[in-house]
Amino acid sequence: MAILKEIYSRCVSISGNIYFFMGLLGIILSIAGNILIRKRADKRSVTLRDSARRIAVVTGASRGLGCGYVRAIARQMDAFDIQELWIIARNRDKLVALARETGVPCLPIPVDLTSGRSIEVIREMLSTRDYDVRLLINCAGIGNSGTSEQIGNRGEQMEIVLNDSVTVAMVQTLLPFMRGGSRIVNIASIAAFQSIPGFNVYAASKAFVLSYSRGLRSELASRGISVTAVCPYWIRDTGFIEHATGEKAAPFLSKTTDQVVRTSLRAIKGRRRLSTPSIASFLDLIIGPLLPDIVLSRIAAAFNLKRKK
Ligand SMILES: NC(=O)c1ccc[n+]([C@@H]2O[C@H](COP(=O)([O-])OP(=O)(O)OC[C@H]3O[C@@H](n4cnc5c(N)ncnc54)[C@H](OP(=O)(O)O)[C@@H]3O)[C@@H](O)[C@H]2O)c1
Repeated sequence: MAILKEIYSRCVSISGNIYFFMGLLGIILSIAGNILIRKRADKRSVTLRDSARRIAVVTGASRGLGCGYVRAIARQMDAFDIQELWIIARNRDKLVALARETGVPCLPIPVDLTSGRSIEVIREMLSTRDYDVRLLINCAGIGNSGTSEQIGNRGEQMEIVLNDSVTVAMVQTLLPFMRGGSRIVNIASIAAFQSIPGFNVYAASKAFVLSYSRGLRSELASRGISVTAVCPYWIRDTGFIEHATGEKAAPFLSKTTDQVVRTSLRAIKGRRRLSTPSIASFLDLIIGPLLPDIVLSRIAAAFNLKRKK
């Protein structure tokens, strides 16, 4: 018994030390990486001034979080070094109304991003003159609550196409028009941190967005282009919850669009790799890796809003 106790206490102390030092190493590497990207971004930004038109592109802009970003960025065009906004979603009327409301040069692009042609349209528009894409926010996204059988193949495929394929296609299309100092922002979710039964493909699609963003950030660091993944918890005043679950709910600890936009824009400006704009996603980020996925996914499933029958 004494031997078992001794083995147990040594294992706990060894794994504790490993966790501690790996965590410390992670924090040091993350801070060093951030300083490096900021220095390169500043250096490149200074060397590039020419006639190029400096734009920001926001997808999913007709309502919800994307619309919140557009409104906030329109109020601080200089801070982002932007002359014009391009706003993308399917609903033409809402885009036109938003463009008018901003009071800055703002181009509505009403397209369905899941149709391959729409990405081509954006590429062609970018080729018409010298554009410098200073900011891309990939915000368009959908989620369906329910089991795989309830959602069906079409519903799950749409989540993967819009959340993942379109995100990658937008980066591929706009990257040739970016220079040092540009920013890419991919909207992931707290769902990215673990599997979630009952919200499974959505969680997996956001895990893709998070992993993709982290890798892309390292690839683009030498060009001084920063990539930030934003991982919100539930946002109560967008159309997302109603679409995902069929009900209008205000889950515990949920945030408003304005709160999420304000917090995440600070991280985006600071060129941070990750934004967790709520206490729930911050805690999940810190505590999640310490728990086995089977435990974490059960907890996440308990917090998931179930689809109304
Ligand atoms: N709300 C939350 O609780 C929450 C939490 C974590 C993460 N997120 C993420 O935040 C992002 C924004 O969500 P939200 O809450 O703002 O949802 P939302 O209110 O439903 O807005 C979704 C946006 O995406 C656009 N969109 C949907 N399908 C599209 C398509 N095929 N082509 C072009 N645009 C399309 C919609 O515009 P149209 O209908 O006009 O096309 C709308 O502007 C998503 O990526 C979501 O996964 C949301």
